[in-house]
Amino acid sequence: MNTISWGILMPIGAIVARNFKGFGPAWFYIHVSCQILGSLGGIAGSVTGLMLGHKSSGIEYKGHKCIGITLMSLATVQVLAGFLLRPKPDHKYRRFWNLFHYALGYTAIVLGIVNIFKGFDILEPPKSWRYAYMGILAALVFLGVVGAAFTHWNKKKN
Ligand code: HEM
Ligand code: HEM
Repeated sequence: MNTISWGILMPIGAIVARNFKGFGPAWFYIHVSCQILGSLGGIAGSVTGLMLGHKSSGIEYKGHKCIGITLMSLATVQVLAGFLLRPKPDHKYRRFWNLFHYALGYTAIVLGIVNIFKGFDILEPPKSWRYAYMGILAALVFLGVVGAAFTHWNKKKN
C-alpha cells in the first residue's frame, strides 16, 4: 500500500502536473485523483505500519516511523490546502501558494521514496521486490526528466 501510494501514484500525479498542462484541463483531475488516492492509501499504509509496530513491542524503527508520521501530516496539509487555500491562477498570491505546494509536494515525494527503501530494509523481502521498485522508479525518473526537458524546450520555442 505504501509503495504504490507514496512511491508510484504521487510521483505520477506530480509528473502529470509538471508536464501535461499543455494537453487541456484533464491534467488537473488526474493530478488531484492521483494525489487524493495516494494520500488515502498512504495514510492507510502508515496506520497499518503503526499497528504492526504496536504489535511487536520493544522493536521500534525510529527513522521509518518519524518519516511515516511526517508524510501523513504533509499529505493532509497538502490536500486540505489544495482545496481550501488555492487562489485562482491569476490571483496575486497564487505564486506563494505554488511555492508552498511545490515545496511540500516534492518533499513528500522524496521522503516517501526514502521510506520505501527503509521499509525494504526492515521487512527484508526477496531482493526482487527492491529491484522491481527500482525499475519502476527508474521509469518514473525517466518520464519526469524527459517531460521536463520537452516542456522546457517547447516553452523556449514559443
Ligand atoms: C499529497 C497531495 C499532493 C501532492 C504531493 C502534490 C504535488 C504537486 C507537485 C509536486 C506539483 C508541481 C508540479 C510542477 O513541478 O509543476 C503540483 C502542482 C499542482 N497541484 Fe498538487 N499535489 C497534491 C495535491 C493537490 C490538490 C489536492 C490540489 C487541488 C485541489 C492540487 C493542485 C495543484 C495545482 C493547481 C498545481 C499546479 C500549480 C501551477 O503550476 O499553477 N494538488 N502538485
Ligand atoms: C512511504 C512509505 C512507508 C511509510 C510511510 C511507512 C510507515 C510505517 C510506520 C509509521 C511504521 C511504524 C514504525 C514503528 O512503530 O516502529 C511502519 C512499520 C513497518 N513498515 Fe513501513 N512504511 C512505508 C514503507 C514500507 C515498505 C515499503 C515496507 C516493506 C516492504 C515497510 C515495512 C514495514 C514493516 C515490516 C513495519 C513493522 C515494524 C514492526 O513490526 O515493528 N514499510 N511503517
